[in-house]
Amino acid sequence: MRLVIQRVAPGSPLIPVLAAWRHRAFFEAEGYTPDQSVALLDGFVRLAAETPDTYQVALVAELDGKAVGTCLLIDREPVTRHPDLTPFLAGLFVVEPARRRGVGAALVRAAEDQARSHGFARLYLYTDTARAFYERLGWRLLEAFDWEGDPFSLMVRERGGG
Ligand SMILES: CC(C)(COP(=O)(O)OP(=O)(O)OC[C@H]1O[C@@H](n2cnc3c(N)ncnc32)[C@H](O)[C@@H]1OP(=O)(O)O)[C@@H](O)C(=O)NCCC(=O)NCCS
Repeated sequence: MRLVIQRVAPGSPLIPVLAAWRHRAFFEAEGYTPDQSVALLDGFVRLAAETPDTYQVALVAELDGKAVGTCLLIDREPVTRHPDLTPFLAGLFVVEPARRRGVGAALVRAAEDQARSHGFARLYLYTDTARAFYERLGWRLLEAFDWEGDPFSLMVRERGGG
């Protein structure tokens, strides 16, 4: 098994594939159309590529040459309760057949490395479903809150922490 984490390049044929996963996992319930989800990822990847020295990046995990997961490192979530905090890990997703094989952890580690290499001592995320997963990876709960009726966690990963 060979697991590789790479940056998603502008115009990559992977963009519609990753966008479709993200759409079903995160955006469909928010009322986005599939095309809007593609445009969102496409625009993000282009902007990141055009911005010199940015830490923002879309990552893809490939297992034996096949794309199986993705995540983003972003400055902040489009809708945020914490506009003073940056950067954020977002949109972590691994396809079901590839789960529980270390892909999600490898994507998180790659985003952490990217944030650290740009001088950030802390990285944040919001989750409603995966708090235990992140805690195993050394993340810590900063704040638990209710967001439009759903319980959410704001979590932090600190440089050198766990
Ligand atoms: C959460 C998710 C990314 C995990 O991906 P994965 O590739 O299965 O994770 P890994 O195999 O790297 O797991 C790393 C560790 O966490 C554990 N783990 C995995 N999913 C977990 C979960 N939902 N809850 C608690 N622990 C979990 C694994 O057992 C593993 O521990 P181990 O190394 O001691 O065995 C994946 O289940 C997913 O895409 N879920 C749907 C989208 C989602 O919820 N994304 C997070 C949004 S914030």
